[in-house]
Amino acid sequence: MAVIADRCLEVQVTVVDLNAERIAAWNDPDFSKLPVYEPGLDGVVARARGRNLHFSTAVDEAIGEADMVFISVNTPTKTRGLGAGQASDLKWVEASARSVARAARGHTIVVEKSTLPVRTAEVIQKILAAATPNGDGRSFSVLSNPEFLAEGTAIPDLEQPDRVLIGGEDPAAIAALAGVYGQWVPSDRILTTNLWSSELSKLTANAFLAQRISSINGIAAFCEATGADVREVAKAIGADSRIGPKFLQAGPGFGGSCFQKDILNLVYLCRHYGLEEVAAYWEQVVALNHWQQRRIARLVVTRLFGTVTGKRIGVLGFAFKADTNDTRESPAIRVCQDLLEEGAILQILDPKVPEGQITADLGQPAGTGEGSWQQVADVQQAASGADALLLLTEWQQFAGIDWPEVAAVMRQPAWLFDARARADGAAARAAGLNVWTVGEG
Ligand code: UGA
Repeated sequence: MAVIADRCLEVQVTVVDLNAERIAAWNDPDFSKLPVYEPGLDGVVARARGRNLHFSTAVDEAIGEADMVFISVNTPTKTRGLGAGQASDLKWVEASARSVARAARGHTIVVEKSTLPVRTAEVIQKILAAATPNGDGRSFSVLSNPEFLAEGTAIPDLEQPDRVLIGGEDPAAIAALAGVYGQWVPSDRILTTNLWSSELSKLTANAFLAQRISSINGIAAFCEATGADVREVAKAIGADSRIGPKFLQAGPGFGGSCFQKDILNLVYLCRHYGLEEVAAYWEQVVALNHWQQRRIARLVVTRLFGTVTGKRIGVLGFAFKADTNDTRESPAIRVCQDLLEEGAILQILDPKVPEGQITADLGQPAGTGEGSWQQVADVQQAASGADALLLLTEWQQFAGIDWPEVAAVMRQPAWLFDARARADGAAARAAGLNVWTVGEG
């Protein structure tokens, strides 16, 4: 929404949320306090806020004034009831649709921006139709406009998108939304489809991306077993233009709020439609991802003579990827939990993730003694007295570690476990460390 406001001066954008604390943070005069860390976002908000970008808790008022309402609430995996563990929980989407039904005036275009199961637009349409039984001068058009930005690169992804997808049935509504994006996106990148294709394209895009990661992580384990190097393999296969070079980085498994949730949702829907083989096929992408996370924790324990009880391990990175403070489904969570279970003392370093978030994710506060963790401020502290450093997020700063200095404060024999192939492994070896790098045989 900030980018839309930045690019379309004649459009007034009001972002509303029931959470007053969050809205206050978006209005904070100190741009470093915005609730989301995303490179370049502070600059965009600074340009547009107060001009044509507003943050408010006056939900009904903003809906009443709007020509177009984007439903951008989260759709987490259901934790109980029908479809628990797989289906998306649509309660926030439904609540938003009911708010729109209550507060909208005149003709309102309702845009599904949240990632949704196929045919959710039907639910929204039914709620809106029920609110306007006799027309009452109000009308609605529902569009699907899924978001393809990735965290860490959100601003460039939005400013130069590969494509914008608009699904719908009402040509005038489609043209109105295409007109907004058309202010900065070339028209040949604005694709229009029917509603269901648009909804399903979002789930499919994430499923294909996640599948590439599980594929390369499976091959990484195979490389380690056979003496091949996954980076050489990735380069060789990526040179085939049909495969392409992107998204072939082996790592500790994919994290983030979307991949697992969207695949599980796809699996649930496939089963719903009786497509058991298709469901089982996609389910395996998630299973391999969990296996990769477990494999890394097991491997650390095995190399440290079969036990990490009472041993210090420096954990480099906790966010699910670099350049974000987001830890949702971060592979670091499962890996750290497994190591804590084994009695390790973790010294966790992440430049953007606050201690409170780590406490929530690991389910225990910082402490001391066996099976505890502490947050540290730099690599030197992470390494202090440690038997191993475990690199889990590919922050740029980890590429330039001074290995002789770090090795000097570790307990020998010491290890570097590089699950992202980010560190200078040769320099670490030269400084006397044992080195394991994902996918390196
Ligand atoms: C992903 C998609 O890339 C976006 O297109 C989509 O819009 C978004 O989900 C969403 O549905 O909201 P995001 O989760 O922000 O974006 O980040 P990615 O760059 O896709 O990374 C996801 C995970 O895969 C991270 O844990 C990352 O470290 C891992 N990854 C990515 C790898 O392990 N190897 C790679 O080669 C690429």
